Amino acid sequence: MFLLPQLGLADGAQRPAHDFHKGLNVLFVVVDDLRPALGSYGDSLVRSPNIDQLASKSVVFQNAFAQQAVCAPSRVSFLTGRRPDSTRLYDFNSYWRMHAGNYTTLPQYFKENGYITMSVGKIFHPGIPSNHSDDYPYSWSIPAFHPSSEKYENTQVCKGKDGKLHANLICPVDVAKMPEATLPDIQSTEEAIRLLKTVKRIKKKFFLAVGYHKPHIPFRYPQKFLKLYPLENITLAPDPAVPKELPSVAYNPWMDLRRREDVAALNLSFPYGPVPEHFQRKIRQSYFASISYVDTLVGKLLNALDEAGLSHNTLVVFTADHGWSLGEHGEWAKYSNFEVATRVPLMFFVPGMTAPISDPGQKVFPFIDPFTQNSRSGPQGKPKEMVELVSLFPTLAELTGLKIPPTCPQPSFHIPLCSEGKSMVQYFPSSSGGQENHGTEQKDSETPVAFSQYPRPGDIPAQNSDLPSLQDIRVMGYSIRTPDYRCTVWFGFNPNNFTVNVKDIHGGELYFEKSDPHEDHNRYKDVVHGFFTPKLCNIIDYLKLGSTSIQ
Ligand SMILES: *[C@@H]1O[C@H](CO)[C@@H](O)[C@H](O)[C@H]1NC(C)=O
Ligand SMILES: *[C@@H]1O[C@H](CO)[C@@H](O)[C@H](O)[C@H]1NC(C)=O
Ligand SMILES: *[C@@H]1O[C@H](CO)[C@@H](O)[C@H](O)[C@H]1NC(C)=O
Ligand SMILES: *[C@@H]1O[C@H](CO)[C@@H](O)[C@H](O)[C@H]1NC(C)=O
Repeated sequence: MFLLPQLGLADGAQRPAHDFHKGLNVLFVVVDDLRPALGSYGDSLVRSPNIDQLASKSVVFQNAFAQQAVCAPSRVSFLTGRRPDSTRLYDFNSYWRMHAGNYTTLPQYFKENGYITMSVGKIFHPGIPSNHSDDYPYSWSIPAFHPSSEKYENTQVCKGKDGKLHANLICPVDVAKMPEATLPDIQSTEEAIRLLKTVKRIKKKFFLAVGYHKPHIPFRYPQKFLKLYPLENITLAPDPAVPKELPSVAYNPWMDLRRREDVAALNLSFPYGPVPEHFQRKIRQSYFASISYVDTLVGKLLNALDEAGLSHNTLVVFTADHGWSLGEHGEWAKYSNFEVATRVPLMFFVPGMTAPISDPGQKVFPFIDPFTQNSRSGPQGKPKEMVELVSLFPTLAELTGLKIPPTCPQPSFHIPLCSEGKSMVQYFPSSSGGQENHGTEQKDSETPVAFSQYPRPGDIPAQNSDLPSLQDIRVMGYSIRTPDYRCTVWFGFNPNNFTVNVKDIHGGELYFEKSDPHEDHNRYKDVVHGFFTPKLCNIIDYLKLGSTSIQ
């Protein structure tokens, strides 16, 4: 078992450490489409003082990756602790309990272990992937909360240059003039704060999941956040052109942006664009402004944790479902295996472990106004190991003293409770993570790698390349990220029997992260020509981790 160090116990706090460890509540914050564009991840433009403050008291993973860079598959993967090949959800059209296996979810596990579990905003992807119920009653003690103003997200509420209202991509708004005079994430924050007060009153252990919708498009956010990002300060992506050696199967044509009225008016050519430079800056500006907006809401939520007297016994985990391309490689949105689409922020605040246990009533997370202050306190611990969101389930179990779910056999469709990830607690720095790992917990001797995948309907970018339905998938791109490189190989895939044909290669990508951090210089042909050992791109070994059959 992992041992809690004595470090950080507040004066006079004499409780046996492991008792504390055991009873921790969990506040699980998931932000939609947020890449690590945060001060605490070294971004010098983005203002995220409240998330940075959380980071300063947390263990902050520098290299955390989603298993598939699109909402529903990523969420079902990390919430069940299984890879997409085991949930068999690569699109938005099935419910794992009916389609793959009756898997116990992360919140369900906490519920079954005596926690009140609650979902606010977007945790499961709503609709078919969670059976139109957010997997209630299995995962949650009470029905999930969805903000009522979410229904206006795609309606004509954005003021255009012509003074009329449009369904635009870029949509800074006067909140008072919005339908219901609010926005979804504001409502979710209010509901989460109300639930924190309620659980405090009834004295129950809780697992509260809060899912923010921004910076997911459309960028509908309070217009005052634009002031933090003057357009003249916004740069383009360092590599705004589609790389010449990018296999066409790897490219995603970002259809969801093209369909917005303001983007459609640009008459962009399909599939490669490009987006005019002034509009690229506007997209980046609104993405960053949306992050600062979410940051203030996270600040209010954490401040409410203080006010409810819960910061000393609540674990806070902060992450995102996947990243987002901001013009890198001429791409936008998620829908790819690139670093910008798969890498996510991931941090764990564990009282008594990553920060001293505060006295009840002490302010741990005072609200920081991004307009007046932009503290850039660095993260508390910064493990560099490659870790995966599929490992959240065993990690949170270990951190709260619950039994770690067993490792899944392959295949594991018939097993309700197991995990395809590995607890990340072994990578917590020893100053916060247990006296020099003395305890029985040993670091795995192998260097961890992160594994992501993305499906395509064919080799040439088409209208459905971003998000093909299961029956249209013909190619699956499997990607390994090691500390040194990313290798992605696109194999033939049969959606009728979920088999991968490893002899049918539709494209390969190899990027060395040190010399090519933006992943623009594809060296895969050097593998084919034998300049590098084929072991470098030996995805097949990694495929054996998942539940897909190999031909
Ligand atoms: C699936 O799991 C749930 C929760 O563990 C259980 O209530 C239900 O009966 C199971 N369904 C089937 C078909 O086994
Ligand atoms: C999914 O929802 C339907 C309709 O409400 C219900 O009949 C079915 O039992 C649900 N599936 C599971 C596995 O609970
Ligand atoms: C914009 O850039 C200028 C010049 O680098 C800098 O002085 C200013 O602080 C920046 N403004 C903001 C809001 O970041
Ligand atoms: C886009 O095409 C329409 C119709 O052909 C034209 O009226 C409009 O001026 C074009 N817009 C741009 C930005 O080129």
